[in-house]
Amino acid sequence: MSSHKLIIGNWKMNPSTLEDAKRIAKRTRTVAARLAHTEVVVCPPFPFIVAASSRKPSANFHIGAQSVSIEEGGAHTGEVGASMLKNLGAEYVIAGHSEQRASGDTDETVSKKIARILESGMTAIVCVGEKSRDENGGHFEFLKNQIKGSFTGIAEDKVKHIVIAYEPVWAIGAKEAMVPSDVNEMSIFVKKTFADIFGAEAGLKLKVLYGGAVNFRNAGEIVRSGRVDGLLVGRESVNMPGFVELLKAVDEVG
Ligand code: PGA
Repeated sequence: MSSHKLIIGNWKMNPSTLEDAKRIAKRTRTVAARLAHTEVVVCPPFPFIVAASSRKPSANFHIGAQSVSIEEGGAHTGEVGASMLKNLGAEYVIAGHSEQRASGDTDETVSKKIARILESGMTAIVCVGEKSRDENGGHFEFLKNQIKGSFTGIAEDKVKHIVIAYEPVWAIGAKEAMVPSDVNEMSIFVKKTFADIFGAEAGLKLKVLYGGAVNFRNAGEIVRSGRVDGLLVGRESVNMPGFVELLKAVDEVG
């Protein structure tokens, strides 16, 4: 496994024009090419995927999608299939983002999406995270159940193409990120839960990212002290030059 850090830029429903999408992607690609220890995945909205892609293959810059249909193809109005995304050059797809869970995706839906992503030969970025924390540690139980539910039916031989983004829902879109010591604790818990399902080796090899209110100021410290394999970045990923600074800060952690 490469020890490179993985930074996912989740653009969400931004930007509003093709010109801006091209500009953000180009700047990200240029900076990514200069990074020594960091790989970048940008996840634009579907209509901008082609424009954000590079004509030349790049080791440090990849394209992802924000979601995918659970269906393979056919009469499903408004849906986008995994094979279509793969065909456009996407290498990663996010599944189970809290905003999609909030609009109806259950653990079962998420597991079906993961299956489609893996079948199509892409990597699944699976988001998990508690809505709130309590003194009795109820968030551990919640997270364990969410991870178990989201991976039901996933074959063991496919797990090397899974990355987990731990995103406490209360930190997404918030002002402050989770403190790095808690990030570290939760990342260990995620790895342990994954190991309980898929075995010790899978747990060791799993990349766990942190997401929620990451910006250029806190990114380096979260990676360093939170000891995570990378970050899932929302707002800051479409904010230039903030994202450029964030990438440099993470790359310096080495
Ligand atoms: P944020 O979003 O970085 O804007 O908090 C993170 C996410 O939703 O993945």
